[in-house]
Amino acid sequence: MPKVAVVPGDGIGKEVTREAVKALRAVTAGSGLELDLVEWPHGADRYVQTGQAITDAEFDDLRENYQAILLGALGDPARVPGNEHAREILLGMRFKLDLYVNYRPVRLFHDSLTPLAGKGMADVDMVIFRENTEGVYVGMGGVFKQGTADEVAIQEDVNTRKGVERIIRAAFEWARANGRTRVTMSDKSNAMEHAGGLWRRVFKQVAAEYADIQSEAKYVDMLAMDMVMAPERYQVIVTGNLFGDILSDLGAALVGGLGLSPSANIHPGRIGLFEPVHGSAPDLAGKDLANPFAAILTSGLMLEHLGRPDLGRRLEDAVRDCIAAGETTAELGGTLGTTAAGDAVARRLTGA
Ligand code: NAD
Ligand code: IPM
Ligand code: MN
Repeated sequence: MPKVAVVPGDGIGKEVTREAVKALRAVTAGSGLELDLVEWPHGADRYVQTGQAITDAEFDDLRENYQAILLGALGDPARVPGNEHAREILLGMRFKLDLYVNYRPVRLFHDSLTPLAGKGMADVDMVIFRENTEGVYVGMGGVFKQGTADEVAIQEDVNTRKGVERIIRAAFEWARANGRTRVTMSDKSNAMEHAGGLWRRVFKQVAAEYADIQSEAKYVDMLAMDMVMAPERYQVIVTGNLFGDILSDLGAALVGGLGLSPSANIHPGRIGLFEPVHGSAPDLAGKDLANPFAAILTSGLMLEHLGRPDLGRRLEDAVRDCIAAGETTAELGGTLGTTAAGDAVARRLTGA
């Protein structure tokens, strides 16, 4: 029985995870897949009370005993303004478990959801492969003469051949396995030639092994514009950690917002971490306003990882049907709260 650590986390993370678990229970009932869902209390509450974010022993436990982590969101700007607990837990999981693929699909579930005039479901269907273990996220650097007029802050951008190659290869492999014909690599090599140069060289080298797939490199500023102007051009985008973070919120905006955008952090063959792209949304927390669909779609990606893509598709279909029926939260034009939107999905899954 696959063991899953459920980490609701902070803010709306708790509310949307409750609905994702509800959908998971509904879709797995009678399916032959049983999940051992173990709730983990990690987040701002525990950090503020105990000073502990996550321990090395807990990382060992995840690595040795679990197949997946389902995470809501981490971030509590009021009580933990430095966000250190979220970095330790979330970036800790990505780095220490070496989950180098951050897979972020940008897919339109209904024509009415995109703010782009004249574009529909056939036009907005891409996947972002975000490098997830390096870049400016590694926390290398420091400050000097802090608080003085001469203050210096250095944040290093770490790019290794191994790291760049494996994410690029993952993007091509996924494209080939899923019938896509083009992979776009995005960097900023016109300004940052060391990192960008490595990305371009490795991209060219790996692309040569996939003659059946077109390859192209785009500067990230131009790509940000073009994702809005001509989303139909893009199928698979592979990029570094920071650019991938930014482009994935832009991608979310193209398909109806963060309330609909799931993500998976994976290293093939190992435990995976599944979380919506959105954060803890303090502006919505505790008000039954958050859209649980991103978290539900995220649990669908988890089911795929656990070997049951059929169940993942059922979750996706249930969400799609809810959207088509107008059974959504307010930001998508509906009248449902978080719990009722989760119930609407669960009802479609159980036929109740
Ligand atoms: P956010 O994603 O929490 O919110 C951005 C905007 O999107 C807000 O207006 C919010 O109301 C809206 N939104 C987000 N999720 C929604 C949902 N499910 N339904 C409807 N609307 C939704 O980003 P932020 O405000 O920049 O960050 C808040 C906190 O979350 C910060 O502490 C940040 O570091 C953290 N964060 C965590 C994660 C994560 O855990 N994976 C991701 C992003 C941000
Ligand atoms: C995300 C988030 C995180 C990131 C933050 C909370 C560190 O924005 O998962 O997209 O930047 O990766
Ligand atoms: Mn982000």
